[in-house]
Amino acid sequence: MKRIMLTGALGQIGSEITIKLREMYGNDAVLATDIREDLSLAAQGGPFRALDVTDGQAFHEAASAHRADAIIHLAALLSATAEAKPMLAWQLNMGGLLNALETARELDCQIFAPSSIAAFGPDAPRRGTPQDAPLRPETMYGISKAAGEQLCDYYYRKFAVDARGLRFPGLISHAAPPGGGTTDYAVEMYVHAEGSGHYTSYIGKGTFLDMMYMPDAIAAVAQLMEADASRLKRRTAYNVTAMSVDPEAISASIRRRLPDFTLRYEIDPLRQSIADGWPDAIDSSAASEEWDFRPAYDLDRTTDEMLESLARKRLCGEKGAILL
Ligand code: SER
Repeated sequence: MKRIMLTGALGQIGSEITIKLREMYGNDAVLATDIREDLSLAAQGGPFRALDVTDGQAFHEAASAHRADAIIHLAALLSATAEAKPMLAWQLNMGGLLNALETARELDCQIFAPSSIAAFGPDAPRRGTPQDAPLRPETMYGISKAAGEQLCDYYYRKFAVDARGLRFPGLISHAAPPGGGTTDYAVEMYVHAEGSGHYTSYIGKGTFLDMMYMPDAIAAVAQLMEADASRLKRRTAYNVTAMSVDPEAISASIRRRLPDFTLRYEIDPLRQSIADGWPDAIDSSAASEEWDFRPAYDLDRTTDEMLESLARKRLCGEKGAILL
């Protein structure tokens, strides 16, 4: 990939990967798009265009005008919002992806489409969930991700579109807040630990979910997009993860640095039931074997960097600091 177009560029992943890709490929080579506009670095550090991904013609025009050879399609509703607004989730997640794939087919672009641990349902093995475990999700978000994976594979087989994808776990980051997800509690816990020293978790003790620190997620996208196509056996999406944690594990890691941190629970039935349908710990060995995926951040290293970055931002009153 040389000239990249991103959708959802102002979201949790987009606002960091846009900046990283501009460092790697040059500012002008990376077009950021999002349905909203703001003054963040991702919107200002290079070309930006407002785009509603459900508008297929506007999608095509933006990619064509940029002479994109790669599309990183991040615009989507996350799990909890999707469960509250299932029709909108289907229209945005599937309609947007279909427009991205059609544009990729018409302009001969490579495409990255994120899937999620949510693509698995309650009948998948909970621990060591294999790459090829059945995908029978019970949430609208999961259904859109599982169907989206198949759509990517279809475009690869039918039209030779170079589609690549990752099943992301919960992503922990400090640049832009996640919105409407189930794993968001992890980010919130760091923000509150560093701010007030207390956090009330809506996800229960003993609920294990996969997580990954944002720099590992960004590196994985870049690495997969540059991977030798002849090594890739899958055009759906690869399992990737760096850790399997529950709220107590994150809290214990935080207490190494902030011994007075306190954690309480007030369970949100919707998000708890979503989490209960997802695996505890997925197996990412196919990604390691086929394109050398190797995350660098374990829980404690993630905690150290999160707390240091949040403290620095707060002390400097830095613009863009996460306020939850
Ligand atoms: N982080 C996402 C969510 O919680 C999962 O892919 O919705």
